[in-house]
Amino acid sequence: MVPHYPTKRSALVPTLLYAQDEVGFLSDEVIGEIAGRLDLTELEVRNVISYYSMLTTKPRGKFNVQVCTNISCLVRGAEDILRHCSKRLGVPNKGTTPDGLFSLEEVECIGACSWAPAAQVNYDFHENLSVEKVDAILEGYRRGSGI
Ligand code: FES
Repeated sequence: MVPHYPTKRSALVPTLLYAQDEVGFLSDEVIGEIAGRLDLTELEVRNVISYYSMLTTKPRGKFNVQVCTNISCLVRGAEDILRHCSKRLGVPNKGTTPDGLFSLEEVECIGACSWAPAAQVNYDFHENLSVEKVDAILEGYRRGSGI
């Protein structure tokens, strides 16, 4: 990826995303490897990871359910959506189901304000949510997982 960017540092976020998709999370080993390849310190890499909610140093479920509770979503029922997801999955915010299938996370704006309330599952956006829609969405991922 490095030749596609003007500086090695510019390749950091996409490189972290690729590595996270491959490994599941950004382990100490992954951080060290990327820091070395991009001529950065591990602290510089960790600072970037801590800024972006889509990057994690801890294992998550196969499907990471991120529910936006920022203002547009909040006024259109996001707290009910988050509460429902938590109840449905049986985990609190930042929790992971025992089978490792789902993680749940409350997040800031995901850029889908016009279609609030919205959530993101891995790279998929789900908009104009209702509790009924949430049930169908979660069930779809569960069925698709083969578990
Ligand atoms: S406020 Fe929820 S997507 Fe922007």
